[in-house]
Amino acid sequence: MENIFQPFPTFIYQNLIEEKVYTFIKKDINNFINNNRSEITTIPGWICNTKSTFSKKDINSKLLNINNLKKSIHFHIENYFKVWSFKQDLDYRIDDIWLNIAKKDEYQEEHNHFDNLFSGVIYIQTPPNSGNFEFINPLTAQAILMKNSNSFPFARSIKPIESMIMLFPSWMSHRVLPNNSLQDRISISFNIRAEYIN
Ligand SMILES: [Fe+2]
Repeated sequence: MENIFQPFPTFIYQNLIEEKVYTFIKKDINNFINNNRSEITTIPGWICNTKSTFSKKDINSKLLNINNLKKSIHFHIENYFKVWSFKQDLDYRIDDIWLNIAKKDEYQEEHNHFDNLFSGVIYIQTPPNSGNFEFINPLTAQAILMKNSNSFPFARSIKPIESMIMLFPSWMSHRVLPNNSLQDRISISFNIRAEYIN
């Protein structure tokens, strides 16, 4: 009996955050950028020039609408978790939220967020050609042998859309291609930590 199948899929979540939440948080972020430029820097350990507030936890307190944003993120996490069928209920929290700004030609190298369970991104400003997000095929050993095709890609490229939220397992390697636009590409990222409820 000949049988060829692909045994191990995973789940990625995409949706748009509510327009009102997006509009307010975008305004907060623009204010934050204008008033806190020195807080947005290159990050030691990142092999790229993208500027970020990564690990500066005080950014949250400077965004007026952070609670509405978190409420929205929680709503989408709950939606995403429906497909996972966890064996026990999870107690989870959004661990950090940080801001990323890529100017022309800036990009983010391949990396993962391995010490978390899930990670996410929300696109705040993505002018045309400001760099696709790419998930790297985890079957690297096969990917390097195969033609880069739709059925077996080296990476899955995702065109960012303003107000789009994307959630994914933290182990999934990803990267951001160079920003070819003259305008900044702005996104926020976050990690989700979780434990089983006993
Ligand atoms: Fe990342």
